[in-house]
Amino acid sequence: MVEILSSISGRNNAQFPPYRLIERDYLKEAQLSFGRLERLYHIGQKKAWDGREVLDRLLQRHGGISLPAPKKEAIARVFSIILWGELAAWHISAEIAEALDDVEAKMAATGQAFDEARHFYTMRDYLLALGVDVPPLDGYTRAILVSVLEAGSLVEKLIGMQLLVENVAVHLFRGVAKGGVEPVLAELMPYFEQDEARHVGLGVMFLPAMLAKLSRAESLRLQLFQVKVTTFIVWATILLRESFEALGVDLHRVFRNGISNQLEIFQAMGQADGGTRGIYIPPDMLLKANNLAIDFYFPRPGAPRPRWLRLAHDLMSGTARLGERVLEWAA
Ligand SMILES: [Fe+2]
Ligand SMILES: [Fe+2]
Repeated sequence: MVEILSSISGRNNAQFPPYRLIERDYLKEAQLSFGRLERLYHIGQKKAWDGREVLDRLLQRHGGISLPAPKKEAIARVFSIILWGELAAWHISAEIAEALDDVEAKMAATGQAFDEARHFYTMRDYLLALGVDVPPLDGYTRAILVSVLEAGSLVEKLIGMQLLVENVAVHLFRGVAKGGVEPVLAELMPYFEQDEARHVGLGVMFLPAMLAKLSRAESLRLQLFQVKVTTFIVWATILLRESFEALGVDLHRVFRNGISNQLEIFQAMGQADGGTRGIYIPPDMLLKANNLAIDFYFPRPGAPRPRWLRLAHDLMSGTARLGERVLEWAA
């Protein structure tokens, strides 16, 4: 049976090297279970791009970055999240690569670490070329990244990073590219997006085998972790709403598209092994409730915003700022 390490600590090297990794029977079984993960590694290698070459070419083509200062500052605020998110993803994927026993999944995670290093330096160089100060991370995003970095189990790290954070990143990249406020960034985003989609794939392919091993208590804990991460993502977005809008990002669409994947994960965690392990909510009801919440928090662009809704949004922004101070105080 292909083994999956569920803990990220305490690797026992007394049995090193794992000779079974070269046994034909083991290889056959591992390929059957995780061959698709190995393919992710090879695709990643084939599609690797040179961040220095791509960024130089885009900067030359568009004559650098010419934007009024407030727009540049909005980019720096939003992309501070991406910059430090890339560094966290780099750390986590390298850790996952070390912790996984199966060579196929190890290869996919190693390929991801290689991609995340490129994402980090390319985003850093873009922000330096932007020529404005990069503000510190908002309190909610910092709390999300720290809790994923410090998660005690591999499955929490995988779900937190590959399926929650990466999923948001993919939809955000799409939203920024569509917004088209800054052409260098708009053309850079698809390079990031194609890699991130592969990283989400690692989580999606590996998740069923991991979920099947969870106890009822672990399933519940994971669902609560997901609720916490998703809630913080919403508050971070409320806090940075003006910056997203300055970049032309359609938050309504980003959340509508992103949320369906989140719901599938939530249900999968609730129903590991075909039975109900954690919290189960009928999918239709869950989708409806989420769509209503999105319509309220992030209305469709151009949709009428009556006075009561404008007041509610002002109140939410104030609450988000207050919550951020509480998080800073608690850290
Ligand atoms: Fe990345
Ligand atoms: Fe990624």
